[in-house]
Amino acid sequence: MKPRNDQEPADLCLPEARSAIADSPPEKNGGDIRILPMEPAHLDQVAAIERLCFTSTAWSRETFAKGLTSPQYPAFCAMDGACVAGYICLSVLFEEINIDNIATAPSYRRRGIGQALLLHAIGYAGQVGGALMTLEVRSSNEAARRLYQKFGFFEVGRRKNYYTHPREDAILMNLEL
Ligand SMILES: CC(C)(COP(=O)(O)OP(=O)(O)OC[C@H]1O[C@@H](n2cnc3c(N)ncnc32)[C@H](O)[C@@H]1OP(=O)(O)O)[C@@H](O)C(=O)NCCC(=O)NCCS
Repeated sequence: MKPRNDQEPADLCLPEARSAIADSPPEKNGGDIRILPMEPAHLDQVAAIERLCFTSTAWSRETFAKGLTSPQYPAFCAMDGACVAGYICLSVLFEEINIDNIATAPSYRRRGIGQALLLHAIGYAGQVGGALMTLEVRSSNEAARRLYQKFGFFEVGRRKNYYTHPREDAILMNLEL
């Protein structure tokens, strides 16, 4: 997970999205953001953000698209008008909801979008009868670990050398609903 903060929001948007936000004020905050179910129309932007956030370990557009075909893999986008500012992807296994992916576009970070997505996911998990939320996070990913801790996720274990590029341990975190 290699953060890059050198792109403006519009650079992550497709041309049609750019025109939709052309009249928006330059400074945004989490309050303008709407959380919507991820749709096929979001996928180009989602895949572009994913490549920026995860480089060599990024999910492909096809991986996101495949998830949209199954109710087992609910996913949500944080929308700034027509522009995707972030997303969260879940997998549902009976009462256990795993956070498979979460990212905020680099130029939208530290505006409350990650926590809005996480809050939405926790609410969704409760609605579908979830009892436990689970996730794995790179041990060096301070931003994500703090985000999860803020919402009450606690460490339950570590998987040695779980990640590649670079090789690194995964911290396992849970939230009881
Ligand atoms: C982790 C990530 C999703 C956070 O998104 P975000 O929209 O910037 O997060 P928010 O603005 O909602 O921040 C919520 C909380 O997260 C924590 N946090 C977020 N970024 C942080 C940072 N750079 N350093 C320390 N804490 C951070 C803080 O606790 C923050 O609360 P605060 O603002 O009251 O201090 C974002 O950094 C990201 O996309 N990273 C790359 C992808 C990734 O690593 N995903 C997680 C995979 S497990």
